[in-house]
Amino acid sequence: STHIQIVPDSLALAGAGADWLAHRITRKPDLTILVATGQTPMGMYGHLAARVQAGTLDCSRVTAVQLDEYMGLEPDDPRSLRGWMERAFVFPLGIRNVVPLDDPATFTARLRDLGGLDVAVLGLGPNGHLGFNEPPSSPDAPTREVTLTPESLESNRGYWDGLAVPTQAITAGMDVILAAHETLLLVSGTHKQAILGAALDGPQTPDVPASFLRRTALTVLADREARP
Ligand code: GLP
Repeated sequence: STHIQIVPDSLALAGAGADWLAHRITRKPDLTILVATGQTPMGMYGHLAARVQAGTLDCSRVTAVQLDEYMGLEPDDPRSLRGWMERAFVFPLGIRNVVPLDDPATFTARLRDLGGLDVAVLGLGPNGHLGFNEPPSSPDAPTREVTLTPESLESNRGYWDGLAVPTQAITAGMDVILAAHETLLLVSGTHKQAILGAALDGPQTPDVPASFLRRTALTVLADREARP
């Protein structure tokens, strides 16, 4: 089932996203969460960190699972998505358990041992990708190494000034993402409007990997610019 919640702007998106996730962490303190980086969830993660600092939310038993990573980077490279996830989510929320995305076999085994994902928090790629499941990606696409499309390289270019975007990446598979018990898809801005329309209203197709989220227990949290 798909639940679509529209909020006025990105500020409201951050608060509503934090409410959604905090509610689930409170209900199940050892929640296993797939964690997107990118710009869209940063406000939400900031809200959650503020609640942890204020003592109204405890994330110490949560497990954070990495969604995607570039290949060939040194661990301390500023482009590392693990580093981004740690700085934006893991450390500020006081999370102690992390499943990094180092290699597909280890990641898949660790997730299996954990019993899979409770929750996936995702952004929407401008080409409909989830993590780095670039189009075309079918629902059973496993955790794997991928070559990024020119469109994704372009959209990721803004994350660090001057540094090239690595062309090779590793992504949690569509199989992993679609098996999460619940998914939160965060979408903000006019530049996401067309692809969100395709994902929600168009055919379910590997050409828009996010369209397969409609098979899951999906909450779409979008602002007016993304979903007028
Ligand atoms: C990026 C990342 C995703 C992210 C998505 C949206 O390429 N691989 O993890 O969710 O695209 O990014 P943003 O939120 O910055 O628009």
